Amino acid sequence: MISLRAPAKVNLYLHVLGDRSDGYHEVFTRMQKIDLCDVITLEQTGEPGMRFDCDDPALSGDDNLVLRAARLFFSTANLTGRQGLAIRLEKKIPVAAGLGGGSSDAGTLLQGLNRLHNHPLSVAELVRLAAQIGSDVPFFAVSGAAALATGRGECLAEVASLDAYWYLLINPGVAVSTKWVFDNYALTSGKKKSKLFGSQKKDRTTFSPEDMHNDLESITMKRYPEVAEIKDSLLRAGAEAALMSGSGPTVYGLFLRKKTDSTALYKLAEQLSAVYDGRVWLTRAYTGV
Ligand code: C5P
Repeated sequence: MISLRAPAKVNLYLHVLGDRSDGYHEVFTRMQKIDLCDVITLEQTGEPGMRFDCDDPALSGDDNLVLRAARLFFSTANLTGRQGLAIRLEKKIPVAAGLGGGSSDAGTLLQGLNRLHNHPLSVAELVRLAAQIGSDVPFFAVSGAAALATGRGECLAEVASLDAYWYLLINPGVAVSTKWVFDNYALTSGKKKSKLFGSQKKDRTTFSPEDMHNDLESITMKRYPEVAEIKDSLLRAGAEAALMSGSGPTVYGLFLRKKTDSTALYKLAEQLSAVYDGRVWLTRAYTGV
């Protein structure tokens, strides 16, 4: 049996650069894995076929991303028919929250199955499979904790993990569809160019809080004003910067670790948790252990 931690991500910036002929959008984003993790356990069983169970009944259907990833792995690695596998998924990352939870479950599973079967697929092949499941899945099929992503999100370049900060996350408790946000962006953006174009020459391997920007934020905020309220309250609480992650609605604030009294920050997280019904997480960058 193996147990895998599937981390959430935040987008430190997300620029939408234009439409693509395949219906997706060209993006430029910096993704950071954080230490808020689902847990996947894999157990090889005697009888052939796959069993899947999840503590969230909404995700137990046959079309969920974990089962799609598993089927794709076994057919590509020519292991179909040989697998007798029980998969258990414990959800901690909120669903449809802009934190890549489903993508992480799928990408982490691909990595785990490859390990369990002694690496029949290369990292490049895993990334190719991951991209068939979703735009964010490749990031979770590789081991690095942070990456710049281009294309529709699947072309990755590893960068340094941002571990100088605490990440304080607040989820307003509504589910947001990524497709809905991108569709509305396409309708309302008037093809305006992302702010990125002004600063394209900047060295993108480094990061500073001034780089934080999300072209999708205004779309989700218009429909859910609580996103803007949360962002304001994180800034008032002393966050260095605050931003909606992905297509939202989760908002996170960055607090520089060397400047922050961690006891006071834990206390703040507890107070916010009472206001937001437990949908508050104080985390650090993902270290993989
Ligand atoms: O790739 P994924 O299935 O996660 O994307 C969900 C939806 O978000 C897509 O169907 C598409 O409408 C939109 N999307 C997009 N451009 C991207 C990523 C996602 O338009 N780069």
